[in-house]
Amino acid sequence: MWLQIQNFQEYLDDVQQSRADVLKFWEHEAGTYYWRKPWDKVHSGGFEKGDVTWFEGGKLNITENALDRHLNSIGNKTAFIFEPNHPDSFRRTITYRQLHEDVCRFANVLQDKGIEKGDRVCIYMAMTPELMIAALACARVGAVHSIVFAGFSAQSLAERIQDCDAKMLITNDGLRRGDKHVPLKDISDEALENCPSVHSVIVCQRTNREISWVEGRDEWWHMLIRNASKEHKAVEMDAEDPLFILYTSGSTGKPKGVLHTCGGYMVYTSYTFRNVFQVREDDVYWCTADAGWITGHSYILYAPLVNGATGIIFEGTPTYPDAGRFWEVVEKYRVTHFYTAPTAIRALMTFDLDFVKKYDLSSLKVLGSVGEPINEEAWNWYNTHIGGGRCPIVDTWWQTETGGIMISPLAGVTPTKPGFATLPLPGIFPVLMDENGDEIQGNGVSGNLCISHPWPGMARTVWGDHERYLQTYMSAYKGYYFTGDGCRRDQDGYYRITGRVDDVLNVSGHRLGTAEIENAINEHPNIVESAVVGYPHDIKGQGIYAYLICEHAPADLKAFKAEVHQVVNKMIGPIAKPDLIQVVPGLPKTRSGKIMRRILRKVAAKEHDQLGDVSTLLDPSIVPVIVEGEAC
Ligand code: WT7
Repeated sequence: MWLQIQNFQEYLDDVQQSRADVLKFWEHEAGTYYWRKPWDKVHSGGFEKGDVTWFEGGKLNITENALDRHLNSIGNKTAFIFEPNHPDSFRRTITYRQLHEDVCRFANVLQDKGIEKGDRVCIYMAMTPELMIAALACARVGAVHSIVFAGFSAQSLAERIQDCDAKMLITNDGLRRGDKHVPLKDISDEALENCPSVHSVIVCQRTNREISWVEGRDEWWHMLIRNASKEHKAVEMDAEDPLFILYTSGSTGKPKGVLHTCGGYMVYTSYTFRNVFQVREDDVYWCTADAGWITGHSYILYAPLVNGATGIIFEGTPTYPDAGRFWEVVEKYRVTHFYTAPTAIRALMTFDLDFVKKYDLSSLKVLGSVGEPINEEAWNWYNTHIGGGRCPIVDTWWQTETGGIMISPLAGVTPTKPGFATLPLPGIFPVLMDENGDEIQGNGVSGNLCISHPWPGMARTVWGDHERYLQTYMSAYKGYYFTGDGCRRDQDGYYRITGRVDDVLNVSGHRLGTAEIENAINEHPNIVESAVVGYPHDIKGQGIYAYLICEHAPADLKAFKAEVHQVVNKMIGPIAKPDLIQVVPGLPKTRSGKIMRRILRKVAAKEHDQLGDVSTLLDPSIVPVIVEGEAC
């Protein structure tokens, strides 16, 4: 189970083998899991039609691979360590055997409540073991889970429930993150006013605050599991049956429900986990992501369990009760593998080094980074002060749609360079494209990042909108998957992701569409039109800059900004609040009415001398007015 690529030569050999026969390569990998019946066909379909399959006809349940398979060998090993928001609150460890029982119990509850294979279940919960149990129980009965980040608003939750017609919602009474309290049940109640598909709500106690209750619809988690059996036979799934939906933002319209399937996702995420992190039997692995994002799905929940690793579930934040929180947890559990986002590192860098030095970090062996480009300064700080110069840093590039890590060093195997995701995993073939849609050969070049061959972990569709899936990923370059990222391949063939080339923002590692934020902002009664762009932000990576055309000039700009924030909080959630707003008399538009965001981005970045050609604008005179205007 712990078979890993041991050294750089082996990595190169595997790349060679995967290039020679990519189907054989993945078939060999798939053979190391538990299948009730082997697949009929390793792979079929392609990017053109977006009809990719892997291991079709193969029968399995991912939870049998994550749990049942381990009972005899490592049943008493810790699967999860739960570290609560407040360091003095109740913490606990859960063995594989206990987790198996808990999942079986809850799977029985789901089936009792009428949940069947293919039904959608929405999960809107705190970062606790119960969230993981809920998701695994869904997978066990063949239901498709849709986990919604617990920072999203009622409106966003409702949209996501409606889009996939979820039958059930699993939530908490509330949660605490840092010193904030989030009333999850109240938010759920508000969302469900517009969600007729939900017949059943299961509420797991976390804050013990008073909540409202809908008789006949709402039930307590702890009451339901009380009499549920701890035996459960997992439902048999085809490799290509849906496993989960995860909503993510695109450059246009509403967030889309990215769909992952059972077999390929399992094979791909566990392969990448094992080889990128090089986790060994007695290691303690900690990924600080939230389960509401793909990193939580792939590298807290599924891949570590399938590999039989010990992982930490962390409910808190990096700075509560103080900026030493991460390092306190590392010391407490002798964490060996630590995987976080650049934005967290940049935030912690601004505090006194004593918050780090107070703790013994000698257990650390590998550091990981994910979610956005990591700047050299942050990389060096991470390397020196957290890794003590002895821990390889794996800068892992991937996306919600890729399911698992695509371009990344393998810890201790691949020579690293600050700011570089380095080289693709075996079986992954990245290419760079020029503006004419041609592949750019050779090294020392930049272009748009595409992938030239399907891989097992890729998303299969956008829920309910296959056309949008084809449009978004498969149409920019025929026969390739387009990532939306710009990328440089340096003299050594190393990849450095330079950021999105579409209208998608990456704010503190959270993915947001400009259109989505604009739609929210436009709900404000005094706003006629808006344009949102990203700008460089020291801690968040990208900040949100909103240009607003108002019906009446706001009397008090600060108060107006607070109102804009309120609207965005309500429509999306606090993560999408603009950092800066600027009221403008007009927007730079082309003759066809398209907003020239390039100009707005330059103004927001204060690169006034690099505005470029503005002569194709309908009204170029608007540009100096915007340049001279002030942001608040
Ligand atoms: C976008 C995907 C991957 C899980 C978390 C984010 C950016 C991600 C890196 C990295 C540079 C990165 C890309 C990508 N991104 N990892 N190591 N270096 N950029 O998943 O929300 O689907 O966002 O995040 O721009 O396209 P996501």
